[in-house]
Amino acid sequence: MKTFYATTPIYYVNDLPHIGHIYSTVVTDVLTRYHRLLGEKTWFLTGTDEHGQKIERAAAAQGTEPIELANRVVLRYHELYRRFGIANDDFIRTTEARHRRGVEEIIRRIEAAGDLYLARHEGWYCASCEAFYTEKELVEQKCPIHGEPAAWQSEENVFFRLSKYAGRLQEIYRSQPGFVRPETRRAEVMSFVEAGLKDLSVSRTNIRWGIPFPGRPGHVVYVWLDALSNYVTALGFGAGDERLYREFWENPDGRRVHVIGKDILRFHAVYWPAFLLSAGIPVPTTVWAHGWWLRDEKKMSKSVGNIVQPDALVEEFGPDALRYFLLREMAFGQDAAFSDQAFLERYNADLANDLGNTVSRVAALCRQAFGSSPPEPCDDNEVIGAWERAREAWRVAMDESAFHRGLEAVWKLLSEINGFVVSREPWKILKEEGPSRRLSRILYACAEGVRLVAVLLSPFMPETSRRICAALGAAAKEAALEDLEWGRLSTGAALPAPEALFPRVDAAAYFSTEEAKTMSTNEPARPAAAPIADDDGRISIQEFQRVRLVTGRVVEAERVPKSNKLVRLQVDLGSEKRQVVAGIANRYEPEALVGKNVVIVANLKPAKLMGVESDGMVLAATVGAAGDPSLLEVAADVPPGSIVK
Ligand code: MSP
Repeated sequence: MKTFYATTPIYYVNDLPHIGHIYSTVVTDVLTRYHRLLGEKTWFLTGTDEHGQKIERAAAAQGTEPIELANRVVLRYHELYRRFGIANDDFIRTTEARHRRGVEEIIRRIEAAGDLYLARHEGWYCASCEAFYTEKELVEQKCPIHGEPAAWQSEENVFFRLSKYAGRLQEIYRSQPGFVRPETRRAEVMSFVEAGLKDLSVSRTNIRWGIPFPGRPGHVVYVWLDALSNYVTALGFGAGDERLYREFWENPDGRRVHVIGKDILRFHAVYWPAFLLSAGIPVPTTVWAHGWWLRDEKKMSKSVGNIVQPDALVEEFGPDALRYFLLREMAFGQDAAFSDQAFLERYNADLANDLGNTVSRVAALCRQAFGSSPPEPCDDNEVIGAWERAREAWRVAMDESAFHRGLEAVWKLLSEINGFVVSREPWKILKEEGPSRRLSRILYACAEGVRLVAVLLSPFMPETSRRICAALGAAAKEAALEDLEWGRLSTGAALPAPEALFPRVDAAAYFSTEEAKTMSTNEPARPAAAPIADDDGRISIQEFQRVRLVTGRVVEAERVPKSNKLVRLQVDLGSEKRQVVAGIANRYEPEALVGKNVVIVANLKPAKLMGVESDGMVLAATVGAAGDPSLLEVAADVPPGSIVK
């Protein structure tokens, strides 16, 4: 039987979880739910990495024992996972006895393969990475990832013959193209190994907080060898009952996928398979390295001090809104910026409006007409075609782990269902014909379309998916493959009173409360901006005339890479061509912009947006609380460069 085993990194317990950590876990949750939906037998592991210098130090700084710190932080993980609807099957802590026994067994096997020896080890060490760096890798004597000063360390260590495995690793990268994903990361790993592998020190003598190294008194196991082993020790490897290990790790028909952040790629794609090869254990099938959530263009991390804690957002908007945002905003594999603004925009536009309104509109119409789901099914309408296209696009995207594209496919279907509702005007039919057969067939198509939206959303937003099914009188069980077939909506089921899935949040009010919160806690009040208008807010005609508004014709348009909103326009202003970057890509496809006659603020100081120079600004109305852009257009016969006043 096909099995699917997915893991998250195990998280350090030196501090509380932030959005970056929760992201890896949500992704793994989505992935496992998807494979379960396909009918595979799945196992989902997460956990905590509790040994090593980093934890020892953090505990000492807090005047506590490492295990007490770990116990506290682990509780936060459990609590957060429960609130986020994370359906993990197991949670491993590296301080557990089952883990220690498994690590001892791995080391016994590596030793038996003749791959361990003692030698003096010297080098620059970053405690935050728990890794050595060469002089060349440091940036001004600091760790290239954390920016912390690296410390010189010199001690007698146990070494692992990593160099011996270079050839076999390269063979894996070549023969198993999906071993490291995405492709850019595979290339990175391959060139790292091609440059030559040095043996790796796998014990420490300068710390006590770790697993005692078998047969080497005074040494503890290097925290990465300890931590990586969790992926098999949690399945019972080396600790007696190995049933899960055999089922999920040794199954030749099984997939073993590690979801990680790109920061720990080398450990997972080089060291881990080398340890496994040495110990005679199969290697994983895929190491999937995702990008970083950035804040102020830096990786969000505790040492940088720019983290977003998920608690407040979950409290305010619910777990599914955050799950949706994380999966939709980040193209899986690339970096993405986290901003409250972007979050709220997506919340209002995608969730409150597109999803929430469609569901409540369809459910309300069914209830109004029949008091139940429509009595007459219908398998002949254009929603079916839209559904088949959406299912295909969704499957392809999900199989490639392109989650943002999977969600895009669902939103396309939503908009097609909406288009169908608008074109058929069921409210008119209800008025004219009452609950007729024709009306039943139209509403069935809409309700069945919405049920299928709920199925496609189920790996992403399990709670919302259940609520949508409940609103349509459909069974609220975990979705299975057969639920992806058209025509499974039960006809005539009583419908509950409608409730809003995602109540709209007023952006201005939200930000003013958030700002008030920040100002009252720690930030000094910002200085007032220089006055630009009289007290009553009016400006003189002279002041207005300082703004040079001209018409222009868009001659080229393309998306700014890595941005969902920005589009780069080349605009013909008659006497010159300008490059202008506009935040309108969420509402306009670039191709549709070419040829449009627009209004440009021509004397704006140039600025860089996501690294792209913008010389001017294109005018657009902002619609609704989400501020959706609607371009200001000028008649086609107005020549470029005409003054607007
Ligand atoms: N304990 C090691 C992993 C051992 S796995 C055998 C570790 N822990 S960590 O707490 O630092 O978390 C690392 C993981 O959290 C990253 O690999 C990534 O998956 C996730 N993230 C932490 N910060 C992140 C961002 N700013 N953005 C996205 N994910 C990030 O390393």
